[in-house]
Amino acid sequence: MKSILCVFYSCTIALTSAAVKHSRTFPKDFIFGTSTAAYQIEGAWNADDKSENIWDYLTHTNPGAIDDRSTGDVACDSFNNYKRDVEMMRELGIDSYRFSVAWSRILPNGLADRVSEAGIAYYNNVIDEVLKYNIQPMITLYHWDLPQKLQDMGGFLNPLIVDWFADYARVVFDNFGDRVKTFITFNEAAQVCYEGYGSVTKAPLLNLTGIGEYICAKNLVLAHAKAYHIYNNEFRAKQGGQCGYTIAAGASLPLTDSDEDRHAVELFIQFQWALYTDPIFSKDGGFPKELTELAAKKSAAQGYPRSRLPDFTEEEKAYVRGTSDFFGVNHYSGALTSGSLYTNQYAVPSSMDDIEVGQVALDDWLQGASPWLKKMPNSLYHALRQINERYPDYPIIVTENGWSTREGIEDDERVDYYRDALEDVLDALDEGIDVRGYYAWSLMDNFEWLAGYTERFGLYEVDFEDPARTRTPRKSAFIYKQIMKTRMIDHDYEPESYVMTIDPGH
Ligand SMILES: *[C@@H]1O[C@H](CO)[C@@H](O)[C@H](O)[C@H]1NC(C)=O
Repeated sequence: MKSILCVFYSCTIALTSAAVKHSRTFPKDFIFGTSTAAYQIEGAWNADDKSENIWDYLTHTNPGAIDDRSTGDVACDSFNNYKRDVEMMRELGIDSYRFSVAWSRILPNGLADRVSEAGIAYYNNVIDEVLKYNIQPMITLYHWDLPQKLQDMGGFLNPLIVDWFADYARVVFDNFGDRVKTFITFNEAAQVCYEGYGSVTKAPLLNLTGIGEYICAKNLVLAHAKAYHIYNNEFRAKQGGQCGYTIAAGASLPLTDSDEDRHAVELFIQFQWALYTDPIFSKDGGFPKELTELAAKKSAAQGYPRSRLPDFTEEEKAYVRGTSDFFGVNHYSGALTSGSLYTNQYAVPSSMDDIEVGQVALDDWLQGASPWLKKMPNSLYHALRQINERYPDYPIIVTENGWSTREGIEDDERVDYYRDALEDVLDALDEGIDVRGYYAWSLMDNFEWLAGYTERFGLYEVDFEDPARTRTPRKSAFIYKQIMKTRMIDHDYEPESYVMTIDPGH
């Protein structure tokens, strides 16, 4: 455990350990990168034969759902500006770029009857451009932008999504796997299922509380497994890459030391991420035991003839178990957890009502520009430890981590956030936790879902008023660059100027 307090006489000790920390370095083969997602940056929503996805559809039909009534129609216009994006990656000196492929750009019908030549050409251009400068591409197949045509057929509530996704995955592996060596099937299953189907904070805003998220969870996990098996059986031998899965995990710590609060932490983890990861990464497979029991008990009491959480057959459990080469985690913060914090504000039925656990962030934790983002001390360290305890056999890649501000180049809060989070990674490495890489979210400001352009996560600021979508490095870009270059964290480093150049070798 870390010491985080520095009061009176213990100050000396803390200062000594800070000096020791100063000299710690990241392992030679540790991968540093940045992340983006297709809908958030590409724009060109109807270029060539691309069809609408669920975010195009939502922003076009329900503009009031977005804080600033904006859309991703143009976003950062990375469809046209991708060479500038890669230039920024060279300026930073990253090892790897994580981006997502838009399903509706590759398969305009959603189904795999027709592959878009223009869509394939765009991603070939991006991949070839990054590889030209020795930056390794990492592709996320699904970052929340389902073709609307598939949503019209039920989306993740239709068990056929397993085949639709598998067919799409085969097209992606087949076209890009000769050069792309790391694939991630799904980004943040809980945000797809819980926020999109079980509440109203992501497209398609279905609000099927206590039902939609559970049906989606089963179908999504099976879709992931089928895509993984396709990679394993048809592509791995000739392409030699890896295929994984990314979940968002906060750090959930008990409010008090009591057994009740420790149990509440376990239930909250089951609700927040283990529902979507235990089937893949746990020894026994299947959904988490306590959540399964609670959902079944509440469902029965509510008059449902069967549990709202559909279980896996033994055959399905075996099919899904072990289908990932690494554990991808997106991490932003954490909270204190207890059954005593549960309030009756949640609908019945709902998965929050099923677990009856609440969380609280403390008042003195720094507030980000996003209402949900408060800076819990050492949250990344705690999250990495919780993941490693649950699934000790899997390497971990931090596939997203970052901080939101408003506009402005002087982003000292983001600078502090990155430095502190990377210290957490070093602490985890010191304890023997197998963390292989770290991707900052995000390369640049982009369309932040229902918040539109009001919350900025970029190392580069983007001027969304400017038709050229000019990108300008923030202070944090220089700090992240220095960390990657020296492979250590110097808390006193200040950039001499804000003029960005490309170092030799990049
Ligand atoms: C979502 O559904 C619940 C009932 O299950 C309802 O109480 C709530 O108001 C709905 N939210 C919205 C935004 O429609």
